[in-house]
Amino acid sequence: MGCCVNFQDELKQRTELIEGIIRRFLPKEEGFAKTMAEAMNYSMCAGGKRLRPLLLMETNRMFGGDQALAEPFMAAIEMIHTHSLIHDDLPAIDNDDYRRGRLTTHKVYGEAMGVLSGVALLNYAYETMLGAFDMAKDPLTVRKALGIMAKKTGLYGMLGGQSADVENDGKPMDKEMLDYIYRHKTSALIEAPMMAGAVLAGADEAQSAIVEKAAENIGLAFQIEDDILDVVSTSEELGKPVHSDEKNHKVTYVTLFGIEKAAARAASLSKEAADLLESLNQKNEFLIELISYLISRRN
Ligand code: IPE
Ligand code: IPE
Ligand code: MG
Ligand code: MG
Ligand code: MG
Repeated sequence: MGCCVNFQDELKQRTELIEGIIRRFLPKEEGFAKTMAEAMNYSMCAGGKRLRPLLLMETNRMFGGDQALAEPFMAAIEMIHTHSLIHDDLPAIDNDDYRRGRLTTHKVYGEAMGVLSGVALLNYAYETMLGAFDMAKDPLTVRKALGIMAKKTGLYGMLGGQSADVENDGKPMDKEMLDYIYRHKTSALIEAPMMAGAVLAGADEAQSAIVEKAAENIGLAFQIEDDILDVVSTSEELGKPVHSDEKNHKVTYVTLFGIEKAAARAASLSKEAADLLESLNQKNEFLIELISYLISRRN
């Protein structure tokens, strides 16, 4: 798609494209489990930035991949991410009532359906990714991408981070613990799509390791910015409540270092990420612009 004369236009265009891809893979609202399919689609269709599928698509493009093979993975990472949000908002976790500008899933469908539809989305992500085997020229790349998605989502990834996050609510915490939490609850779900996008396009181990490190930094910067927005933004702009972290007595980069230092850390992490990607022979100018846009985003 060439270089970015107008980044915002390119971003909008790509987000719309991704919206269409995601919708193709959603479950049908029919049969005896219709309500659960509705609850899954309620949150999936509520908007959201679609950042993770975008990162997957752009990393895949950077390494010259076939987008058709990446598409089930793009839909799946958004399902996994949306599952993490539905559960993150539950009364037992962050207890938030709004997400993506709408009442949260548990507020509309009840807590039981919030739990079930969240898990069902996680499972549906794997059903969706398995479909990629049918179109792969080299099934080993699909197998590797699936392995990355599984590991980065679970105990050694996002879910591990979420568990440490809730266990430490209201407790004092040092930077080491906070970094573990951010690297897992947030970076792991940025590493997964970027690495999967690269691997599906045939990236080798060394290239994939550089992508992983860049993604880790993007994730840390993204979470720091999320913490800042939780303090300085409005619920209208975010589509989710502000001051959720304060309500849950969370230690964040903002409470540990203050807004200015937190923002400076996000900027330097994001610069490191761009430098890492620029050290590769493969180029993607849009991706580099996206990284810096993320730390100045408004929602
Ligand atoms: C929210 O993710 C959870 C965090 C890791 C901070 P996003 O800010 O990407 O949420 P959506 O997908 O745009 O709603
Ligand atoms: C969320 O962190 C990370 C995941 C959902 C995995 P937050 O709890 O800060 O996310 P928001 O602010 O509710 O989106
Ligand atoms: Mg949380
Ligand atoms: Mg939350
Ligand atoms: Mg937050």
